[in-house]
Amino acid sequence: MAKMTERSLKEAFAGESQAYMKYTIFSEVAKREGMENIARLFQGIAYAEKVHANNHARQLKIIGNTSDNLQDAKDGEDFEVHDMYPAFHAIATMEDDKGAQQSIHYALEAEKIHSDMYGEAQKVAKDGKDMELGELHVCPVCGFTHEGTPPEKCPVCGVSSERFKKF
Ligand SMILES: [Fe+2]
Ligand SMILES: [Fe+2]
Repeated sequence: MAKMTERSLKEAFAGESQAYMKYTIFSEVAKREGMENIARLFQGIAYAEKVHANNHARQLKIIGNTSDNLQDAKDGEDFEVHDMYPAFHAIATMEDDKGAQQSIHYALEAEKIHSDMYGEAQKVAKDGKDMELGELHVCPVCGFTHEGTPPEKCPVCGVSSERFKKF
């Protein structure tokens, strides 16, 4: 693919991905405010942005089989754990932004677990097999991710695990 086209599509993929995420969250806000139709509007358009992101990704050939995708996902989580979030945390500390420090800390702690989980999955997926996986529990406050029965309280943010979302 020609350089400028590749750069354009990467930018478009990032933009559509961000729009998908924003509209999904906007939809949840509208639902909480009792505006069911506006929630549905955000949800429908979020899906359309996902279609666009998927089409750009296909042109860019950045989606592989599950084994490749797990490696890609693990590499991304590792980058966040070892490079991106430590640097971002240092910046937020230097600029004395407590809120940013906390949201970065929450993400960094969860990404470590995600990297391990993807690594375990990749070990079996590379032979074309599915992994063994119990129920996943995710903290709605900090994103802490746990397989199987969760501890009573989130070890990262302290919220009661009764509020965890199951997958
Ligand atoms: Fe993650
Ligand atoms: Fe948490």
